[in-house]
Amino acid sequence: MNNEKSKALFAKAAATIPGGVNSPVRAFRTVGGTPVYFEKAQGSRFLDADGNQFIDFCNSWGPLILGHGHPAVIEAVHAAVDKGLSFGACHEGEVEFASTVLEAFPEYDKVRAMNSGTEAVMSALRVARGFTGKDKILKFDGGYHGHFDGLLVKAGSGLATFAMSDSQGVPEDIARTTLVAKLDDEASVTALFEAHGDDIAAVVIEPMPANNGLLVQRKEFLEFLRDITTRHNSLLIFDEVISGFRLKFGGYGQMLGIRPDLVTLGKIIGGGLPVGAMVGPANIMDVLSPVGPVYQAGTLSGNPISLAAGVATMKVLRDENPYPALQAMGEYFAQKLKESTSSTWARVVTMGSVMWMVLDDIEFPRSPAGITPNVTRRFNEMYWKLMNRGFYLPPSGVEVLFLSMAHTKEDVAALAAAVGEELDTLQ
Ligand SMILES: Cc1ncc(COP(=O)(O)O)c(C=O)c1O
Repeated sequence: MNNEKSKALFAKAAATIPGGVNSPVRAFRTVGGTPVYFEKAQGSRFLDADGNQFIDFCNSWGPLILGHGHPAVIEAVHAAVDKGLSFGACHEGEVEFASTVLEAFPEYDKVRAMNSGTEAVMSALRVARGFTGKDKILKFDGGYHGHFDGLLVKAGSGLATFAMSDSQGVPEDIARTTLVAKLDDEASVTALFEAHGDDIAAVVIEPMPANNGLLVQRKEFLEFLRDITTRHNSLLIFDEVISGFRLKFGGYGQMLGIRPDLVTLGKIIGGGLPVGAMVGPANIMDVLSPVGPVYQAGTLSGNPISLAAGVATMKVLRDENPYPALQAMGEYFAQKLKESTSSTWARVVTMGSVMWMVLDDIEFPRSPAGITPNVTRRFNEMYWKLMNRGFYLPPSGVEVLFLSMAHTKEDVAALAAAVGEELDTLQ
C-alpha cells in the first residue's frame, strides 16, 4: 500500500497540531505507524489521500449508523445550509429535534441539545448536583464519558478511596469529587454508598460499556444500580452516547426495562455532525436555566445543520428499522470469523451494530480486569496487515468496530476471512 501522501500530511500536521491530531487515538500510537488521511467517503467505503480504498469499520466512531453520505442526511444538510449556518437563536429545527428524540424516549418530557457527548454528560452531572444538592459522582472503572475534568479519572489503588486523575491538569480537588467503582461488581458500589451515600448526587454508567472493549453488563447489575440510587436519593444517569439509537429507536435502558433519571446522547443523534443532548423528566430538566438555577449554554447549541442531520438520521432509523439486520450482520461476522480460522480465540461480542473481537480463550469480559494482554497484542499484530488488505478498523484493540446500514454481508464476510487468515499466522 502506498501511503506517501498520508505520511507527508502527518509530518506536516505533527509540526502544527499537538501529536498531529485533534483527538489522541487518531495518532495510531497503539498500533504503530502513521494514520491514513481520509479524502472522501461514501456508503461503507472511503478513499485515502493516496487513492487507496478501504472498507470502514470505524464509521467516525459510531455516528454513521446509516453509512457515509446517506442521501436522506445529505439532502437534509443541504436544505439546512441553504437557510443559514447558525442562528444562535430559536428555530423550528430545534422543536423538531426535541420531538423526534422524545418520540423515541416517550417516558421523558424534555431534551436539551448541545455540541458533544462530553458536554451532555458534563451538563447532566451539573443538573444532578443541582437537583440533589449533593456533590459526589460515582462512575465505573473502564467507562468513558468524555474528556472533562470530573470524569477523567480512574480508581485509586484501594477501591474505597477517591479517584486519581487519568490526566495531568485535573485538580485533585475535582478528582476527589468522583468515586470509582468496578463494573459487574455490586459489592464495590455498595461499599462506596456505605461510605459516601449521603453525598452521592449521581451514578453514571454506560449501560452498554463500549469504550474499553464491549463489556456487556448483567441486567441484574444495572437493576441493582437503579435500586441503590433510588434508596439513596441519588440520580441514575445512563450515558447512551454510544448505545442510544444503536440497538433500537430509543435507548438501551428501554430494552432492559430500566428507566434511569437522565439519559445522555450524542453520536447518532447528530448524524455525523457535532452534537450531544440530555433527556429527562420535567421536574429534573427544569432545574436548567432559564427555568431553574443550573446554568448550561452554548453559542452553537441547537445548531440547525447538526440537528437537521440528526433528525434525518433518526427518521431513517424509525422508518426503516434496520436493527434486526444490523444485529444479524454482527452475528454473521462472528460466525464467518469462526469458520475462517483454526485458532480457538477468534471470538466476537456483538451488540447491534457494535462488535468487539476478544482474541483469547477467555470468558467475554464484563470489566477491564477481564481483558487479557493477548486480546490487544493480537489485534495490534494484525492491524496493519488488515489495513494493507483494505480494511480500516479503529486503531486500538479495546475500541469497538461499528457496522452501518451501508455494510453488506460481503463486506463483513471479507473482513472475517482476512482476520481469520491473519489469526492463523499469530501465536
Ligand atoms: C459513552 C460516551 N460518552 C461520552 C462521550 C464523549 O462524546 P464526545 O466525543 O462527542 O464528546 C463518548 C465518546 O466516545 C462516549 O463513548
